[in-house]
Amino acid sequence: MADVAIMGQGYVGLPLAYEASKVGTQVLGFDISQGIVDALNSGTSHIDDLSDEDIRSMVDAGYQATCDAGRLAEASTIVICVPTPLSEDGGPDLGPINAAVHTVSEHLRSGQTVILESTTYPGTTDEVVRPVLEQGGLVAGKDFHLAFSPERIDPGNEKFGAKNTPKVVGGHTPACADAAAAFYGSFVDTVVRAKGTREAETAKLLENTYRHINIALVNEMARFCHDLGIDLWDVIAAAKTKPFGFQAFYPGPGVGGHCIPIDPNYLSHSVRSKLGYPFRFVELAQEINATMPAYIVQRVYDLLNEDCKPLRGSTVLLLGVTYKPNIADQRESPAVPLAQQLIAKGADVRFFDPKVLEWSAVPEARRVDSVETAVTEADLTILVQNHRSFDVDALALKAQRFFDTRGVAADGDKVQRL
Ligand SMILES: NC(=O)c1ccc[n+]([C@@H]2O[C@H](COP(=O)([O-])OP(=O)(O)OC[C@H]3O[C@@H](n4cnc5c(N)ncnc54)[C@H](O)[C@@H]3O)[C@@H](O)[C@H]2O)c1
Repeated sequence: MADVAIMGQGYVGLPLAYEASKVGTQVLGFDISQGIVDALNSGTSHIDDLSDEDIRSMVDAGYQATCDAGRLAEASTIVICVPTPLSEDGGPDLGPINAAVHTVSEHLRSGQTVILESTTYPGTTDEVVRPVLEQGGLVAGKDFHLAFSPERIDPGNEKFGAKNTPKVVGGHTPACADAAAAFYGSFVDTVVRAKGTREAETAKLLENTYRHINIALVNEMARFCHDLGIDLWDVIAAAKTKPFGFQAFYPGPGVGGHCIPIDPNYLSHSVRSKLGYPFRFVELAQEINATMPAYIVQRVYDLLNEDCKPLRGSTVLLLGVTYKPNIADQRESPAVPLAQQLIAKGADVRFFDPKVLEWSAVPEARRVDSVETAVTEADLTILVQNHRSFDVDALALKAQRFFDTRGVAADGDKVQRL
């Protein structure tokens, strides 16, 4: 028997399994990938936030990974943590959620609690998940509990993990919320009740849309501050000393990852399809953030021009190609369009990233072995992602030209900040 079955053993489902397992919960990790299941059962991790040792300790505590959907019936709680990508037209792709929910419905039994954690548009739990689960005759809120609880995990964050990040829970009924809150309450410090599933779904989208829009705000400011000769990094450092009413966001080469570039689309698409009008803030933010790689290329072009070098034929070294520092996740990394646009203009693009040995998204970009030598050879080096292991100032000193998109390099003749 298992206390909980967690569907999807990725960046979200696996840390959840780990935290639950730590307090003695019997966890079944269900995934459709046999490779992931085999690796987990043999004690091997495939995500940054958990080590092989962490996985082995889970397995020792009774954790089992499985592809056998029949075992879902063993669990008193089923948590769904499957991906929510975008479809080809840029709208929500609920394929993985639909597949997971159909699997649950085939094995659902009376008394179980089903919780959706995947980020999705408001109404998904009630309008998409509930009807499928009720197909077999069991009724949500009566025969089984149904809730939505957004995952707020921030991979690589050393201060806030699954345990000390408050967990928002919205139930189909108050009793459903009680059941979900009781489950999380056993291993999460703080559980916050939202009024219902729609409020919990929208809370997650508000959080990520807020971030997306504020990053777009500083990205737009980066462009005109540069033209006006104003150091935006210094502006932000000054502004953030205000102890209330201001939160610092920083410009960069674009937004990446599985959440910020994607989740706001779920909200804007849902507003447009249900109500017929746009969510204008999201659409503007999308436009600004998506054009940052092209803006970086323009600045590279200008910098090389100052050195009487054409972009075509110049060697450009990218430092850090993951979507955020100190993790290996490359999903939606803005380094990809940046490299592709530089290559399209004839640059010889090379990269160095301690977390990326093969950059399959940009096969034309050659990985350099020695970053110290490569910075001296490159006509221009761009700090795209500031991994902890980079000695930025030492690299900037050696570089012919150093373009710092993260605002961390000390001032210098050859250094230019975004
Ligand atoms: N990664 C993050 O930082 C993060 C943070 C907050 C929220 N989220 C949200 O959490 C959800 C999951 O994201 P993730 O990053 O863990 O994805 P992931 O790709 O790392 O993992 C998803 C796992 O689900 C498995 N899977 C796919 N379809 C399945 C099915 N039908 N049944 C069982 N398993 C299935 C995949 O094989 C994969 O192992 C998404 O909605 C995402 O938006 C992610």
